[in-house]
Amino acid sequence: MELFTLARVLHVLAVILWIGGVAMVTTVIIPSVKRLKSKEEQLETFERIEGRFALQAKITTLITGLSGFYMLWYLDAWDRYLQLSFWWIHAMTLIWIVFTLILYVFEPWLLHRIFREQVMRDPGKAFSVIHKLHWILLTLSLITTAGVVAGCHGWYWF
Ligand code: HEM
Repeated sequence: MELFTLARVLHVLAVILWIGGVAMVTTVIIPSVKRLKSKEEQLETFERIEGRFALQAKITTLITGLSGFYMLWYLDAWDRYLQLSFWWIHAMTLIWIVFTLILYVFEPWLLHRIFREQVMRDPGKAFSVIHKLHWILLTLSLITTAGVVAGCHGWYWF
């Protein structure tokens, strides 16, 4: 039981750091970077900040995934994937898969280069696209978090 509680504590702390960081990037950093004068300055500032956050996000997504799957194993709750009322288990797993793929696969191999090229071509459009994507991921993450906390404490929305 103690290990399960520790896993939950680590899970929630990692989620706070990770999704809180996404909120900071979405609501504060990108809008500020958009207001910088030159595209070189925009790109340099954004990459410096996002680069540091990417490392933090890689660590926190890893802790979230390990602790999350450990809790599922401990509870022997794999059959929740077959029940609609546990939509928040699907949502957590899906959000985690999307971020993990972006952070570990697409960003280093592809997105970094494509984003640089797009900023050089049309910085306004590039930052507007990346801002929208951050808003979508943040909104889905917050809905998921609300659904998990409600579900864990007996309030099922379906
Ligand atoms: C592979 C990914 C994930 C797995 C397997 C997973 C699994 C779990 C499990 C099994 C629980 C405990 C459920 C229970 O006690 O009935 C839990 C709790 C929680 N999860 Fe996840 N999770 C994952 C990712 C996420 C993500 C991406 C978020 C947020 C966006 C999240 C937020 C939370 C929160 C806030 C709790 C604690 C709720 C509470 O105690 O009130 N998890 N997770």
